[in-house]
Amino acid sequence: MSKKKAAVGHDRLKRGSFCGFGSLLLLAFALVFLLDSPTNWPSSYLSIEDRDNTWPEVDAPASARRKLAFLFIARNRMPVDTVWDLFFHEAAKEFFSIYIHSRPGFIYNKRTTACRYFYNRQISTSILVDWGEASMIEAEKLLLVEALKDPANDRFVLVSDSCIPLYNFTYIYNYLMTSPKSFVDSFFDAKESRYNPKMAPVIQRENWRKGSQWFALKRDHAAIVAADADVFRMFQRHCKRRPLPEFWRQQSMNGDPSKQHNCIPDEHYVQTLLAIKGLEDEVERRGITFSLWDQSGRIQERKGWHPVTFALSDANVDLIRGIKNITSINYEAEYRTEWCTSNGTAQPCFLFARKFTRHAAMKLLNLTLQAI
Ligand SMILES: *[C@@H]1O[C@H](CO)[C@@H](O)[C@H](O)[C@H]1NC(C)=O
Ligand SMILES: *[C@@H]1O[C@H](CO)[C@@H](O)[C@H](O)[C@H]1NC(C)=O
Ligand SMILES: *[C@@H]1O[C@H](CO)[C@@H](O)[C@H](O)[C@H]1NC(C)=O
Ligand SMILES: *[C@@H]1O[C@H](CO)[C@@H](O)[C@H](O)[C@H]1NC(C)=O
Repeated sequence: MSKKKAAVGHDRLKRGSFCGFGSLLLLAFALVFLLDSPTNWPSSYLSIEDRDNTWPEVDAPASARRKLAFLFIARNRMPVDTVWDLFFHEAAKEFFSIYIHSRPGFIYNKRTTACRYFYNRQISTSILVDWGEASMIEAEKLLLVEALKDPANDRFVLVSDSCIPLYNFTYIYNYLMTSPKSFVDSFFDAKESRYNPKMAPVIQRENWRKGSQWFALKRDHAAIVAADADVFRMFQRHCKRRPLPEFWRQQSMNGDPSKQHNCIPDEHYVQTLLAIKGLEDEVERRGITFSLWDQSGRIQERKGWHPVTFALSDANVDLIRGIKNITSINYEAEYRTEWCTSNGTAQPCFLFARKFTRHAAMKLLNLTLQAI
């Protein structure tokens, strides 16, 4: 038992900037691990914050916080960068900032992207993201840590490299900046196969939430997600995405994969953390990013528009009009319908949509950035 705990600690140290008087420290840590229970671990040397957590203690006054921070999760080249170039072209510099988590070492410049606003916006702390592991949420946290360093950043919106904006900058900016709440797709996750009881007591069953990972957070919520170590640690240990059936044979070491928890870290973490912190009153519990491909898969839990999976050839005026016309989301499991609003006024639900290829995005360009 204690051996396992020490191994976790050691792993974190190796990945951080651990050097010098190593063996002595390790010995000290080993003693701490032997004597202590996991919930009492000091968070400082286990959390991701210890790489660099120097965002300002004192924030700028609310009136000076007027930037919308775009946090991109990318692999390397961005398929729809042309769209984003046009999108940001319209915006004044003082109203937005951009942070990209990409493969470590990948640099955005003239050669690698068609979007001028992406040049050198990769964060230097990026990590390798393993499919199905907690490293995806670690990447999100690292983006937040970087973005929080600019005291002018007030809202933080997470977007994928295959996301396109459905409106122009001004519309999206006003929508997110005037809302007194964060936007996080979130519902109580009743599915037994995804909650691992070993996460208790840090994560209680009643706070276990699911939803899409693509959030828009207020600054205080962003700081909470960036700083959290306790809940994140539970995810690292007990929340993994089950491999797809085609990879089961390679996973045979771990017993019958069909019986493993299929936890899906990035679709639980932020919503569960905010529930644990008792902040759901400050959250619009619905997403702002429409996902084309997961619409049919989730129909049991949450009905959006039509239960269809769209093909590339469907990328046309009607598709975009249809998405922009959605004004409510039905969360069947909770008998809850979210009538989409921002600061009290009825609004379309979705500001972004995914996943689009470069080709489809180009085809849709004139339909999204201009009002249709
Ligand atoms: C939110 O709505 C209220 C009431 O309509 C309005 O007075 C206020 O200015 C709005 N807030 C922002 C930030 O736009
Ligand atoms: C938008 O939605 C309304 C009601 O849901 C429907 O009557 C209308 O035809 C829709 N318009 C488009 C362009 O899809
Ligand atoms: C898109 O708009 C541009 C200029 O606004 C125009 O030159 C181009 O032909 C349009 N493309 C399509 C496919 O409508
Ligand atoms: C931005 O989009 C909104 C809503 O679609 C539209 O009303 C407005 O005219 C657009 N602004 C510009 C500068 O295109």
